[in-house]
Amino acid sequence: MENNQYPFVNLPLPYHYNDLEPYIDAKTMEVHHAKHLQGYINNLNQVLKDYQGLQLLTLEQLIENADRLPKGLQAPIRNYAGGVYNHRVYFYGMDSPRDQKPRGKLMEMLNAQYGNFQSFKDVFKKEALGVFGAGYAWLVYDKGKLKILTTPNQNSPIEQGFSPIFTIDVWEHGYYLKHLNERGNYIDDWFQVVNWDKANQNYMSCIRNYY
Ligand SMILES: [Fe+2]
Repeated sequence: MENNQYPFVNLPLPYHYNDLEPYIDAKTMEVHHAKHLQGYINNLNQVLKDYQGLQLLTLEQLIENADRLPKGLQAPIRNYAGGVYNHRVYFYGMDSPRDQKPRGKLMEMLNAQYGNFQSFKDVFKKEALGVFGAGYAWLVYDKGKLKILTTPNQNSPIEQGFSPIFTIDVWEHGYYLKHLNERGNYIDDWFQVVNWDKANQNYMSCIRNYY
């Protein structure tokens, strides 16, 4: 991940805000990236500015070590470092709508574990719909297998040792302008813009690191 240490900056996305239309609207993307993610970056830099030791840690190291930090720092680091990391995984996990199917080894593993792509989507959607309030649904890699899990708020699965393949942000700020209260429609639309090349790359690097 680029810009992985203090001071954090909001990297431009590899696509335009309107490239995910009609599934995710340009205004939502702009507000989400330029305002919400920027807010997490500003807050994280603000927290880290007085802690030179922590400035040397990567974004991932900050999150993975959150429970070892002084009590007063744990929640801010979890919220802000998590907010930056999770949003980056979400944004980089999307691309303009193309061929909306997994490929390569990832497709093989999804088929092996869930029967077929549609069954995987059904399970993933149910989990994402089930997030109470704000949070994320994730496909992660865990010791040789894929796993679907959810996290509340800005908690991140890397704190529990899981490696993300992709995530959907189900905070209302990610869909309310277009989809209103219909989170299910947003999840269906998000599946149209998943960057399956990136997902497969993430999966392949998980395999390489595991074996
Ligand atoms: Fe978000």
